[in-house]
Amino acid sequence: MTRVHDDTRLAGAYHSGNAMPEASLRAWAEFVGSFAPRPAPAWLDVGAGTGMFCAALDRYQPASRVVGVEPSLAMLRAAREATAGGRARLVAGTAERLPLADGAFDIALLSRVVHHLPDRPAAARELARVLRPAGVVVLRTTFRERLDALVYDYWPRLRATDGARFPGQAEVLADFAEAGFTARTVTSFARPVAASLGEYAARLRDRPQSKFGHLSPAESSAGLERMRADAVARADEPARAVCERYDVAVLVRG
Ligand SMILES: C[S@@+](CC[C@H](N)C(=O)[O-])C[C@H]1O[C@@H](n2cnc3c(N)ncnc32)[C@H](O)[C@@H]1O
Repeated sequence: MTRVHDDTRLAGAYHSGNAMPEASLRAWAEFVGSFAPRPAPAWLDVGAGTGMFCAALDRYQPASRVVGVEPSLAMLRAAREATAGGRARLVAGTAERLPLADGAFDIALLSRVVHHLPDRPAAARELARVLRPAGVVVLRTTFRERLDALVYDYWPRLRATDGARFPGQAEVLADFAEAGFTARTVTSFARPVAASLGEYAARLRDRPQSKFGHLSPAESSAGLERMRADAVARADEPARAVCERYDVAVLVRG
């Protein structure tokens, strides 16, 4: 399997295939920002990808600074473009070895990253090191217990592959507890990502998420065709937005 951070095809498809309507991105930035331990916090975005959240935090949060860390050079390049002209700074690195000073941040976001980490306990220890006391980690993720995404209706085999890829809630919380974090809350948040099923199908056309790497080209196209056919069958109905829901775990450093 190609590791995410070596995959230049994915880096190219990722930005457009995962972009959210601006109102949804703003709602996410405000939601994760509501867990900040103090006004104008220093933000860290680990596994920043193409910089969507770095840019949104810079735009919509009263941050004193925003730093993104990302191991993929292809993603990093895209993130630097996406955040050009803003205050966010993007650096190369991994969650397990953050190239950052001790106690430099108030709040860290890991959006859709936890399941990629080869050594989650090491990442949790690194986050404890770079956060100040009472600093916060926000995990935006999918826990294995709640695999309810719409994509499973069209690619049922993804439910099994995601079941093997995504960690369970208890194991993640245990790794962070070991590193000195206490769980403040585990909740859920959903926002529209596409205005209709047809728009969602268009967005998935280039297989913009690593999960699609588990499917053969024939399986990918068959699922996409089913989604397009459903979109056409609903063409006379009022368009219904497609939402993506994520689990959100908020952890506080002791
Ligand atoms: C699904 S993308 C999420 C990107 C972004 N956070 C978002 O929500 O749009 C996962 C990202 O995690 C990065 N990643 C993979 N392994 C990592 C590690 N060990 N430490 C930090 N980031 C990692 C990948 O390169 C990729 O950019």
